[in-house]
Amino acid sequence: MYTYSLSGYGVMAADRIRNEAYAQALRSAIQPGCVVLDIGTGTGAMAVLACQLGAGRVFAIEPSPVIQVARQVAAANHCAERIEFIEDLSTRATLPVQAHVIVSDLRGILPLFQQHIPSIVDARRRHLAPGGTLIPRKDFLWAAIVEAPKTYSEIVDPWEKNTFGQDLSAARQIAVNKYCKARMPPEQLLAKPSLWKTLDYRQIENPDAEGGLEWTIERDGTGHGILMWFDAELTEGVGYSNAPGTPKVIYGSLFFPWPQPVALAAGQNVAIELHAKLLEQDYTWRWKTRIAPAGKSAETRFSFDQSDLQGMLLSPVSLRKTAADYVPSLSEDGALHARTLALMDGRRSLEEIARQLCAEFPGRFPGWRQALGYAGALSQKLSR
Ligand SMILES: C[S@@+](CC[C@H](N)C(=O)[O-])C[C@H]1O[C@@H](n2cnc3c(N)ncnc32)[C@H](O)[C@@H]1O
Repeated sequence: MYTYSLSGYGVMAADRIRNEAYAQALRSAIQPGCVVLDIGTGTGAMAVLACQLGAGRVFAIEPSPVIQVARQVAAANHCAERIEFIEDLSTRATLPVQAHVIVSDLRGILPLFQQHIPSIVDARRRHLAPGGTLIPRKDFLWAAIVEAPKTYSEIVDPWEKNTFGQDLSAARQIAVNKYCKARMPPEQLLAKPSLWKTLDYRQIENPDAEGGLEWTIERDGTGHGILMWFDAELTEGVGYSNAPGTPKVIYGSLFFPWPQPVALAAGQNVAIELHAKLLEQDYTWRWKTRIAPAGKSAETRFSFDQSDLQGMLLSPVSLRKTAADYVPSLSEDGALHARTLALMDGRRSLEEIARQLCAEFPGRFPGWRQALGYAGALSQKLSR
């Protein structure tokens, strides 16, 4: 899971538009004495706010060490007795009572981010009291075809205008299969935005999303790719937008580049098909584009099929190691890792483990204190 720096949490704390919308949603949802669950409390802002708005009992869940700051924030704001902090993922936590209100913001640039949707599905099933309120309630995913020469240049220029005049098209080919965060004014849209998906958290089950969209280009220009963003509905009538032209909120938009810029004329048809699939810890995206010639012809002028899998740096050797028929055996690093975990059997101290590692992997650590650093880091991540 992605962990934020304190300054990352600071950016969230400073986002007035988002925070005021969340405050308004909490104000309308919280009844005096009710139970609130804040998933991913970060520095504790929503949990404290819930107390200030009259919640009787608040559970604040956060796996990252920033929870220690949240505890201090709660104490400084005289809410410590009403907030129970749980240092874990909500998907692993068991609560003594269900919550009347669940508040969270587990999104990235888009709501299709890491384990956001599975976490909400789990929270709705296990932690939400019947008839309870989920904040946010819905997110709307929008997309548009954009003219984005500056963003596009930032992606391809290093591989097209290199110092030695070498052919770096192999790198360019990978670069145009990577999406990136971007913010663009409405003037860069070549057609009106289209709604791609509505994520209704009260009902959603499937974290994956796929579907097509079509535009008729409205003005002549050069198309560089697809821009995608979301609008949030926290509760009825309360939300915020990330649309081009709206005031800046923390999220921004994602830009999916095309392999080449395409001259587009008003009236031309552009169709895309988007697939977002949650694999392991995060999403992989595929974006297919069909651009018809100007005029009424049904033929396709350009057809692109891109994905961030093609945007990954993968060597045949590392790919081979993921094949179903590959028979893996541990490298020295792997053996050290496995041995360290085996020594964490609930009986040995970290010092004992570190001394044992030193004895078994003599060339690896200059002394047991270095081995302690190694084992300590693993313990922090993987021990109970
Ligand atoms: C975008 S930050 C939001 C922080 C804070 N709630 C706010 O709105 O400013 C998301 C936080 O959720 C945490 N998180 C992500 N998934 C979680 C889960 N399933 N259970 C608990 N915390 C989670 C992350 O560690 C991160 O601190």
